[in-house]
Amino acid sequence: MRMYDIIKKKRDGGELTTEEIDFFIRGVTDGSIPDYQTSALCMAIYYRGMSVRETCDLTFAVRDSGEKVDFSSIRGIRVDKHSTGGVGDKTSLVVAPIVASLGVKVAKMSGRGLGHTGGTVDKLEAIEGFCTTLSDADFIRQVNDIGLAIVGQSRQFAPADKKLYALRDVTATVDSMPLIAASIMGKKLAADDDCIVLDVKTGSGSFMKTVEQSRALARLMVDIGKNAGKRMKALITNMDRPLGNAIGNAIEVIEAVETLRGNGPEDLTEVCLTLAAHMLSLADMGTPDEALALAKRAIADGSALAKLKECVAAQGGNVRLIEDTNNFKRAKYSHAVVSPARGYIAHADTEAYGLASLALGAGRNTVEDEIDFSAGIVLNKKTGDFVEESETIATLFSDNAAAFPAAEQKLLAATTLQAVKPADEPLIYDIIE
Ligand code: URA
Repeated sequence: MRMYDIIKKKRDGGELTTEEIDFFIRGVTDGSIPDYQTSALCMAIYYRGMSVRETCDLTFAVRDSGEKVDFSSIRGIRVDKHSTGGVGDKTSLVVAPIVASLGVKVAKMSGRGLGHTGGTVDKLEAIEGFCTTLSDADFIRQVNDIGLAIVGQSRQFAPADKKLYALRDVTATVDSMPLIAASIMGKKLAADDDCIVLDVKTGSGSFMKTVEQSRALARLMVDIGKNAGKRMKALITNMDRPLGNAIGNAIEVIEAVETLRGNGPEDLTEVCLTLAAHMLSLADMGTPDEALALAKRAIADGSALAKLKECVAAQGGNVRLIEDTNNFKRAKYSHAVVSPARGYIAHADTEAYGLASLALGAGRNTVEDEIDFSAGIVLNKKTGDFVEESETIATLFSDNAAAFPAAEQKLLAATTLQAVKPADEPLIYDIIE
């Protein structure tokens, strides 16, 4: 088999066989296929697309390119959720304890921030002492004991994806539906869950900018998961504005705790409850409506917050921070961003909001960068709100006051004002079964 022939076949619109896809991914993993041929095939896939069968084969080959976990010794049904990435997306910190408090196992492997988007592992590390690496034996024991553990992806999951992603990033081939689906699901399927709920974000803060693109990606990923024998669902949720009011790390943990206390922002609470309901329902806990009632009760009676505390304690974190979030270290400096005019906020370029938070120190520009856990943005106003001239629309936090002017400029440039109230947008566009 020659890589040249595979590239030519896809370039001319042909359908690759399972053997050809396996040959490609094996060569990417062991380094025998040079980067220029890998890039050329990615570009051919970008233009010609792939059938569902080809995309499944690509996903399974990516999944099988590295280590896998065996969670069969965890008792009970294991359920996970995966977000395609957003700004202010702290849903895992709320949803995982809700679901676990109701007796369904959550063995969660989460990621760090990627580009303008935040990551659960970085947020958890804002809790002093919280350990995001556990041995397999400790991880399994904790899930069996308390129903919940959250760690980073420390093992060599899907190494082919690591190489492919790095090349796609520099060859303008990231935004290809089959390549994104194989990348996300290849990693997801390497973790050993029974049920997966996908939170496919749509809008200016996500990788998929339109609802139609997001719906197609969700459908494809649900089909791939089902082909792999998983129970699957996907929600299409709005990321045309940040989720909740906090963007950062410690401030997002604080907002998640408030949500578990029943005092969270409406949008965050609704997305979390809906995700939890579908996770519970997939795990045989009733219809989505019945499961929604259970999820609401877990917040109202404090059992979900108690489960988060249990998890923090089990992983070495300082529970006093969760009991009283005033104990979190505050940023040295804050700065109010005021509106230059009066009017309604018509649109927020959410990717730019994420980049502004990154500029304050809440994310990384290179893998070596250290995060300032107290840095970030609290939004005083969001899309649809009315603002007076000179009224505060956001508050910036950082230990580095020199970062404020650039972040402020980015935020103001990303915020569009208009005289009339914009039409409301849905928070949840669709649920793909
Ligand atoms: N997230 C991933 O893991 N892969 C992609 O291709 C896009 C988003």
